[in-house]
Amino acid sequence: MKAIINGAAIFCAEAGRKSSPAVTFIHGFPFSHRMWEPQLDATAQEFHAIAFDLRGHGESEIGDGQYTIEMHVDDLLGLLDHLDVRKTAVVGLSMGGYIALRALERNPDRFSAAVFCDTRSEADSNESKLKRAAVIASVKRTGSAAYAESMVKDLLSPETFETNPAAVHLIRGIIAATPPLSIAGTSLALASRTDTTASLGRIRVPVLLMGGERDVLTPPSVLRSMHEHIPGSEFFIVPHAGHVSNLENPVFFNEKLLAFLKRSVHES
Ligand code: MLT
Repeated sequence: MKAIINGAAIFCAEAGRKSSPAVTFIHGFPFSHRMWEPQLDATAQEFHAIAFDLRGHGESEIGDGQYTIEMHVDDLLGLLDHLDVRKTAVVGLSMGGYIALRALERNPDRFSAAVFCDTRSEADSNESKLKRAAVIASVKRTGSAAYAESMVKDLLSPETFETNPAAVHLIRGIIAATPPLSIAGTSLALASRTDTTASLGRIRVPVLLMGGERDVLTPPSVLRSMHEHIPGSEFFIVPHAGHVSNLENPVFFNEKLLAFLKRSVHES
C-alpha cells in the first residue's frame, strides 16, 4: 500500500496479523523494502511485519531529491502513526541502522527492541565525505546502472556471487532502478548525519547486533564496538555473508532474529 506521509507517497509492504507485535524493517542505501523479503516471510507468522521504501527509493516518491536522516525518521514515525502502530521493534541495515539509531535517540518510547545490522554509530569521516562527493559526481555522469555495477563487489561477499546469484541479481537491479537524483540526495543525507555513539549507553530496549563476516563496508569490529557500548546487547557475526547479511545468509540471520524477537518483544 501507499500512504502520503509528510507530503510524499511512501510505499509499505506488510505481512502477518495487525494484532501481532510489530516489527519494522528499514533498508540500506540505495536498496528498497525488497531486500527484506526473506525476513517478511520468516516473521509473518508471529509478528506484524512492516517493510517500507524510504523516500527516493523503491516504489516511494522521490520528492525534490533533498533528504536528511531527520526526514527519514519523521517518515518512519509518520508511517507508524498512519498504521496505528504505537510501539514496534525496529530492524535496520546500514543506512537503515543509522535511521533506527537516530529514531531511538529521538523517540525511545516508540520502540520495543532494536536490531542493528551491518551498520555503525559514527558519523562520516572527512575521507568518507569526499567519497560521497565522488559518488554524487559519478552517478550524475554515468547513471545508476554503472553505479550498481561498481558497488555490488563491495556489498556482497565473494561466496554470494558463487552460491546465491538471485541475491546478486536482486541487489544489482534495485540499485540500477534507483534514480541518480535520489542516490545523490541520499549521499548528502548520509554525509550530514549526526554521530549517535554517545547515545548507545542510554539505550534501554533489548538490542541485537548482526553483521556479515566478510562485510568490508562495516566490518565485524565496528559492530563489536557498538556491542561493547550497548548494555546487555547480543552480537552475532553472520557467516558466509558480506554487507547485506540478511540476504546473503537468511537461514542464520532469520534464526537469530526470530529467537531474539520472540524473547524480547513477546516478553516485553
Ligand atoms: C548502506 O548499505 O546503507 C550504505 O553502506 C551506508 C553508507 O554508505 O554509509
